[in-house]
Amino acid sequence: MKTALITGITGQDGAYLAKLLLSKEYKVYGMLSRRVNQSYQNLDFLGVKGVNFVYADLTDQCSIQNVIKSVMPDEIYNLGAMSFVGLSWDKPAYTSQVNGIGVLYMLEAIKNFCPEARFYQASTSEMYGNCKGSEAKNELTPFIPRSPYGVAKVFAHNMVVNYRESYGMFACCGILFNHESPIRGPEFVTRKISSGVAEIKAGKRDIIQLGNIKAQRDWGYAADYVEAMWLMLQQEIPEDYVIATGRTHSVEVFLQKAFAAAGLQYSPEYIYQDPKFMRPAELDVLLGDSTKAEKKLGWKPNTSFEELVNLMVQADIERLK
Ligand code: GDD
Repeated sequence: MKTALITGITGQDGAYLAKLLLSKEYKVYGMLSRRVNQSYQNLDFLGVKGVNFVYADLTDQCSIQNVIKSVMPDEIYNLGAMSFVGLSWDKPAYTSQVNGIGVLYMLEAIKNFCPEARFYQASTSEMYGNCKGSEAKNELTPFIPRSPYGVAKVFAHNMVVNYRESYGMFACCGILFNHESPIRGPEFVTRKISSGVAEIKAGKRDIIQLGNIKAQRDWGYAADYVEAMWLMLQQEIPEDYVIATGRTHSVEVFLQKAFAAAGLQYSPEYIYQDPKFMRPAELDVLLGDSTKAEKKLGWKPNTSFEELVNLMVQADIERLK
């Protein structure tokens, strides 16, 4: 039986990945920071049972070492992060600690105590930042991050590549484009829209406050994306992969589809563009090219944009019943 350690176990991806690994009969350890009152609602929503919880914090090197030494995992998935880009301008140092230095702590602990373990790092399309050009981004596209979040993630990405090359560690980065689901956190735009539309349908509100609705993202389904994380760690050679759908849509199009999924007619009158949700620097368009993942991992997204929107809206309508 293989043993996996997942940081960020209570987040969206942690819950989907735990479900996947348990279905493959892994012994799954989930790392909890106990920094805040962590909620098990994502794990509960997916019916995930049997995770062993261990306590450590990505900002505390001793705790990381203790967990790695005691669990001695075969595979480690580092999904823990300050994952909300918008907040990274308000908390740049904390974001750098968790998303940057925290990854270095993980790598050091693995190198020193568990060097055979396979390591997955959650890199992100946010690292491309302001990289110009309309073509889809791939593994060779340069990173020009445009948020404290993106800067910290580039640091972590480069550190993983460096440890792989310096010490021969089996360490991979998945450069994942946006991925959503019914358990996406309420602060992210897709979930804000799906829950807002469900509440409008139920007569509980009549406006959704948003920021820049012209921004475009390559949105996929989180359940499809965790499969790619697992596949990366099953290869002979550790490499980095872009995971994306290859289609991009604006926030406005997401809105239109979400209203349609709820059986409502979209009108701009439902939207209040609130300056407080505008970012100091924005990524106008993100579009990914996951040809490498398709060729080498045999991975392709299974869920279309329309299916994803529908899934999220129906789940939020259901929650209100
Ligand atoms: N959150 C939010 N709230 N975003 C809004 C809003 C709003 O009210 N209105 C417009 N947007 C725009 C943002 O400005 C951004 O352009 C886009 O919607 C998506 O925002 P988010 O859903 O917050 O996601 P993100 O793209 O910033 O980051 C997500 O994807 C990254 C991968 O590219 C997160 O999951 C990151 O952790 C991840 O790395």
